[in-house]
Amino acid sequence: MERDVIVACDFPNAETTLAFLDKFTGKKPFVKIGMELFYGAGPDIVREIKARGHKIFLDLKFHDIPNTVKKAMAVLSALDVDICNLHAGGTIAMMEAALEGLTRADGTRPLLIAVTQLTSTDQAALENDLLIKEPIDQVVIHYAKNAKKAGLDGVVCSPQEAGKVHEACGTEFLTVTPGVRFADSAADDQKRIMTPEQARLNGSDYIVVGRPITAAEDPVAAYERCCREFIGE
Ligand code: C5P
Repeated sequence: MERDVIVACDFPNAETTLAFLDKFTGKKPFVKIGMELFYGAGPDIVREIKARGHKIFLDLKFHDIPNTVKKAMAVLSALDVDICNLHAGGTIAMMEAALEGLTRADGTRPLLIAVTQLTSTDQAALENDLLIKEPIDQVVIHYAKNAKKAGLDGVVCSPQEAGKVHEACGTEFLTVTPGVRFADSAADDQKRIMTPEQARLNGSDYIVVGRPITAAEDPVAAYERCCREFIGE
């Protein structure tokens, strides 16, 4: 599997996003578009960034009845994104329906990965709000196995969990990991962080990096440093 750095473009509108991407005159980064930008700027922002030669991870985290998710996934597939995602909590039936919706007539499809448990959910919320009594790391692995059973390509998880996910689901099962910081940069609101190099050693296939690149004085230099540390290029 090819490792890559995905830049989280958490900007409020198309203008700011495109001005940011204009800075990258060499290698075009793999870009993550989240809910804020997608719902604010609409599907045209996906087409525009794609036309500029970037790969796109569209991070919309679907969670609905299988039929609705299947139809929504068909729309994303027509947009030609490279990775999209959903909540594994939507059940195996929902994940299978999503894959069906995503698969084009010629058999090709974007990669589909699952969120297991959000990193904002802790053991107390799991037990008290969701009435799930098992330890959270076991829940994460169980949900990852469900995603694999449904035929998905991988999960979003912390770099700390990447090794365990690979152990449980195989090395081909992708781990896409946010929570990455340079050794000398601020943690911001991320709690369990790793450097790009540690993430590589822990088996991450893709790292998702936002503020250490988007808020850097020189975003291109920060992106290149990230690629050097994570991919070795
Ligand atoms: O700026 P930063 O590097 O913290 O950005 C990380 C990106 O990954 C953000 O878009 C954030 O929403 C996303 N993310 C995360 N933790 C998760 C899932 C997604 O930080 N568990």
